[in-house]
Amino acid sequence: MTLTVKSVARVSLVSTLVLAAAGAAVLAASPASGAASTLAAAAQQSGRYFGTAVAANKLGDSTYTGILNREFDMVTAENEMKMDATEPNQGQFSYGNADRIVNQARNQGKRVRGHALAWHSQQPGWMQNMSGTALRNAMLNHVTQVATYYRGKIYAWDVVNEAFADGSSGGRRDSNLQRTGNDWIEAAFRAARAADPGAKLCYNDYNTDNWSHAKTQGVYRMVQDFKSRGVPIDCVGFQAHFNSGNPVPSNYHTTLQNFAALGVDVQITELDIEGSGSTQAQQYQGVTQACLAVARCTGITVWGIRDTDSWRASGTPLLFDGSGNKKAAYTSVLNALNAGTGTTTPPTSTTTTTSNPGGGGCTATYSEGEKWSDRFNGQVTVSGTDNWIVTVTVSSPQRIIATWNTSASWDSANVMTARPNGSGNTFGFTIMHGGNWNWPTVSCRVA
Ligand code: G3I
Repeated sequence: MTLTVKSVARVSLVSTLVLAAAGAAVLAASPASGAASTLAAAAQQSGRYFGTAVAANKLGDSTYTGILNREFDMVTAENEMKMDATEPNQGQFSYGNADRIVNQARNQGKRVRGHALAWHSQQPGWMQNMSGTALRNAMLNHVTQVATYYRGKIYAWDVVNEAFADGSSGGRRDSNLQRTGNDWIEAAFRAARAADPGAKLCYNDYNTDNWSHAKTQGVYRMVQDFKSRGVPIDCVGFQAHFNSGNPVPSNYHTTLQNFAALGVDVQITELDIEGSGSTQAQQYQGVTQACLAVARCTGITVWGIRDTDSWRASGTPLLFDGSGNKKAAYTSVLNALNAGTGTTTPPTSTTTTTSNPGGGGCTATYSEGEKWSDRFNGQVTVSGTDNWIVTVTVSSPQRIIATWNTSASWDSANVMTARPNGSGNTFGFTIMHGGNWNWPTVSCRVA
């Protein structure tokens, strides 16, 4: 009889695990019911945008434009607004390809980020060998002409792109523009403000994601200085090109928050993360949550649509595969956006141990399990006895919605008491987090 009961319990346990696994698969493949089903709609729920870089020569590709029109509400020209594209000969401006992108976006009700007015790279040949006052004036004329041409059509301009040096100096990058004088950046911002007073004016750079990096600190000091002296800067763009050598930093939220505290908006402007599968999906989730957790993070732009559209296609760094199918990374971003503001980056460590405070002969060890936008799994392993009683306490608004490998009861909404059910000394549970990613506390005693 006892055997029969045990075998029924085991069958039921197996069913529960299969169902839990199936549920996880469903969660990973589609948004929760009632949630927004596109990136733009999901971002709009918290007043944010979700954008992409667009290449003019792909606008005839119906798979490409289909995804563009459906998923994104902000557009950046990947190359077509750069200095070499818009002023190929000095004083002769060329807006054909940029206009195709701007018009396509605006006809579809999307906004446009302008990229980029002044940059040491992608300069037209005539500018590359200029210096001194002639170069300064040519740069300022370029800023004025292009920003004036697009006045009223641009949500935010990357006024200056990538002006800081990599490495440990925290100083400016050497370039022909820098050699015209350290004030070239503020001069560019003033010219842009005069030309299009309605556009937000951003400084944009890469490798500025990690708060402890010298380059991040250098840009921070410049923005702080600009704000203190009334230089017209409204936003800082974080390009966010990540790979295994340059991973998403665990302090990303700190970086975004500290810049925002200077009184500027922050935007993730060129996001791509090399990799695949759940690792890539989790990193995308972390970046999305870092933005959502900062009130002045106004939106996220990914640097291309399909992996094959990427400037580094071999790293498969985007949200759609080469056929236009949604990747796991897409779903993790969508779910994170649907979970909304107030979420924080999940903890990164994997285990913690809480011994019985009374020293009663057993130890309960908590380990992190899978994480989704709205819930996470945990498990507890008990050592020291097979006859245990473990208390698991979660903090509001968390609630435990499922358990396995244990017989559990609840003393209150937050406190669960778990006992062995014949399945060994490791049991698990699922917590709806409600925006609170804190681990539960666990303690055990011998029954
Ligand atoms: O269109 C020409 C083509 O006609 C020619 O045959 C071919 C070979 O020379 O070049 C093509 O142009 C290339 C262009 O991308 C379009 O594909 C350029 O050589 C190439 O330099 C250019 O690269 C762009 C790069 O910026 C340099 O401007 C990438 O597409 C673009 O994704 C990348 O974007 C930058 C951001 O602007 C700033 N932050 C970093 C980011 C990634 O590098």
